[in-house]
Amino acid sequence: MNNEIHECITKDRWGRVLSFSKDKETPFQLILSDVIEEKYKELQKNLPFCDVFYAVKANPAKEVLSLLSDLGSNFDVASIYELQRLLELGVDPSRLSFGNTIKKYDHIKIFYDAGIRLFVTDSECDLRNIAKAAPGSKVMVRLMSEGGQTADWPLSRKFGCNPDLAGDLLVLAKKLGLIPYGISFHVGSQQRDITAWDTALSKVNYLFSWLKENENIELSCINMGGGFPATYLEKTHSIETYASEILRYLREDYGDVLPRIIIEPGRSLVGDSGILVSEIVLVSRKSRTALERWVYQDCGKFGGLMETLDESIKYPIICERKGPTEKVILAGPTCDSMDTLYENYQYEMPLSLSVGDRLYWLSTGAYTSSYSAVEFNGFPPLRTYVL
Ligand SMILES: Cc1ncc(COP(=O)(O)O)c(C=O)c1O
Repeated sequence: MNNEIHECITKDRWGRVLSFSKDKETPFQLILSDVIEEKYKELQKNLPFCDVFYAVKANPAKEVLSLLSDLGSNFDVASIYELQRLLELGVDPSRLSFGNTIKKYDHIKIFYDAGIRLFVTDSECDLRNIAKAAPGSKVMVRLMSEGGQTADWPLSRKFGCNPDLAGDLLVLAKKLGLIPYGISFHVGSQQRDITAWDTALSKVNYLFSWLKENENIELSCINMGGGFPATYLEKTHSIETYASEILRYLREDYGDVLPRIIIEPGRSLVGDSGILVSEIVLVSRKSRTALERWVYQDCGKFGGLMETLDESIKYPIICERKGPTEKVILAGPTCDSMDTLYENYQYEMPLSLSVGDRLYWLSTGAYTSSYSAVEFNGFPPLRTYVL
């Protein structure tokens, strides 16, 4: 920790953050692009058997997309609006997939007309739309995930289907003239239990074999989605450990010749690159003898800290001041009681903390600016600067 403020924020990087942010009005987010580059290279080094499709929703800043495009990433796209941005940046459509299982017919057509030929689905209705609007395309069917208990931001139930239906959909895809390309899943974002991939992969393997033996359908690809961690307060394993365990699961099922493996990292690529800077607006107690202080600052759930919902993601926070501390309840600036960030989790801050002090929220590069509301209580969306 000697030469580091936090995991990948070296003292040198911290110096850049402080000098850049000095005159800027809060709240805002700073993205350190060299951290993203480092994370991308780390992922490639540890998972060389995977094709990376960056999940644009994690942070759609143009500079972030350009950087990842230059590094060779493909992109998992959730809407026509993300698509438009990528096309404007000159990213080739062959590097894009439409990964959202909930989509309008007209939007599928827009993707198809733009040249995208890889779609993910989990329902018959959507599959039939794809067959009509994007004839001859490759489809992947998404399995429902069971990793909800151990992921800090679960993605279960709303997405995916059970293996029985997944098999039926891939058979139907072939009948409808599509290419049954593979199976996808997402074990939940910030997944701390690596065995969640093992559970999902065993279902995938079953479907690969069943479809081959019973329907003469040979699938070519597994899309393992996201789930790899950023560095928050809750401990996780290194990417190296995730990679070696996942490779072991894959080798058990497929031996030396793996199918094409896609991953769609969002959080793990951009999370640690972000520092959100906020300012304290008010410090108060609720009674003469209250043991804790309420600290209200100018960025809350609607300003980008949405993943504090249910206190799911616990960001490391740096205060400018030092000295003895006590428990605080952290809240945002809007007129909504839901805009309380941490009440149960024991964040401690210096007793000398006062109005105008800055807080530096680390590892806030993913799912912050892209979540911030347009005008709730009149506040503008979170500003992003990319260094
Ligand atoms: C389809 C899909 N792929 C990838 C991701 C990125 O996941 P993560 O941020 O955990 O890497 C998401 C996140 O919501 C997703 O919905």
